[in-house]
Amino acid sequence: MPDALDPADPDFARDPYPYYARLRARGPAARVALANGTHAWLVTGYEQTRAVLADPRFSNVPPRAAGRPKADSPAQRARACLARHMLNTDAPDHTRLRRLTSAAFAPRRVDALRARIAELTDGLLDETAERLRGTGGADLVDSFAFPLPVLVIGEVLGVPEADRADLREWTYRVGSPAGALEPGAVDEAWSELYRYFGELITAKRRAPGPDLFSALTHDSAEGGLDDGELLAMAFLLLFAGYETTMNLLASASLLLLTHPGELAAARRDPARWPAVVEEALRHASPLEGTTWRRTTEEVTLGEDTVIPEGASVLAVLAAANRDPEHFPDPDAFRPDRHLPGAARPAPHAAFGHGPHFCVGSRLARLEAAVALPLLFERFPGLRLAADASGLPYRPGLLVRGPRSVPVTAD
Ligand code: HEM
Repeated sequence: MPDALDPADPDFARDPYPYYARLRARGPAARVALANGTHAWLVTGYEQTRAVLADPRFSNVPPRAAGRPKADSPAQRARACLARHMLNTDAPDHTRLRRLTSAAFAPRRVDALRARIAELTDGLLDETAERLRGTGGADLVDSFAFPLPVLVIGEVLGVPEADRADLREWTYRVGSPAGALEPGAVDEAWSELYRYFGELITAKRRAPGPDLFSALTHDSAEGGLDDGELLAMAFLLLFAGYETTMNLLASASLLLLTHPGELAAARRDPARWPAVVEEALRHASPLEGTTWRRTTEEVTLGEDTVIPEGASVLAVLAAANRDPEHFPDPDAFRPDRHLPGAARPAPHAAFGHGPHFCVGSRLARLEAAVALPLLFERFPGLRLAADASGLPYRPGLLVRGPRSVPVTAD
């Protein structure tokens, strides 16, 4: 019998790795009973994860929405619209959407954001310094890891400076855990985002700016994305881009605060920062699992693991990234694995694999490689103000990261 899995269990959220190691030992994929009464197949080995993500028999299209309530409030329309994004499509639809997005995220456009990311980080570190002076403590998630990616997505979408505070507030509300805020406040934020992105598209069509999103609206005039697709894309970029990067920044900060030797080494030799970022991506896997896949036919994995047609399958990136077959001593945080000249491990799977490989990987790496050194330069005496092993983690199988990283500074 497979172990039952409760993704809301706080102990599992904090440390899911022993559970995944047990599943991996069982074979290429394990059928698991979820706490909500459904079943799913979890793929936990490195090779098998990559094989599944590259195999078109594992579809990204969600089951038909038959029986779901009609989307007749603005908040429901916003949620329904978000579900139309390209992560929920297969070829050939996906190929077309992906081609346009990849062009907008061309390396030179992403790299041009470097100076702006540094400016935005400096602004947030000013706010953090004020908090530290005022109360003696700050939460790195609230003051650094959450707002920075939202502000950077603001740059990507070309959101005017005056609207950034609204974007930050709406995103905070729609991303808050269930029950944390008044339901009205969450619905209102969804509606506001929906209205705002609609207006933004009209404005960008009329007067495209230098931002990446304008490149997408511009292409659409030449037969690319329609309005609904653009709206879904704005939501996808916001959600795919902020929560993942927030978790990377929060987990990487926490790893450095708990591994002072690694922090000191990166300070001595700044060329180590990219390796720190790669190892944080591997070790802390900000996206714990990919989006759900569904088998379009019966599939046999390995010698005799048979997954039936129509099954829900999750490729668990966090587990693939701790597969001891590929990463010796997988639970250790060791940036030196990624240094040039090291006996290189296989590339990590934190950005996925195959046709849906992360469009924003270059941007996420850039953000972390710019922001983390600035954080630790500004506060050389930064210390964790809580027991690392007791910090709460986000529940669920999709994203993974600490909900707060409380710090003080000497
Ligand atoms: C540390 C940060 C990030 C991580 C770990 C991450 C990880 C991933 C992964 C694993 C996927 C594939 C999901 C699947 O196959 O189901 C993905 C897809 C995607 N990511 Fe990221 N991501 C990050 C940041 C970003 C950023 C900053 C952006 C854009 C601003 C972005 C945009 C996207 C988009 C648009 C897709 C869908 C690609 C497609 O369907 O072809 N991501 N990401």
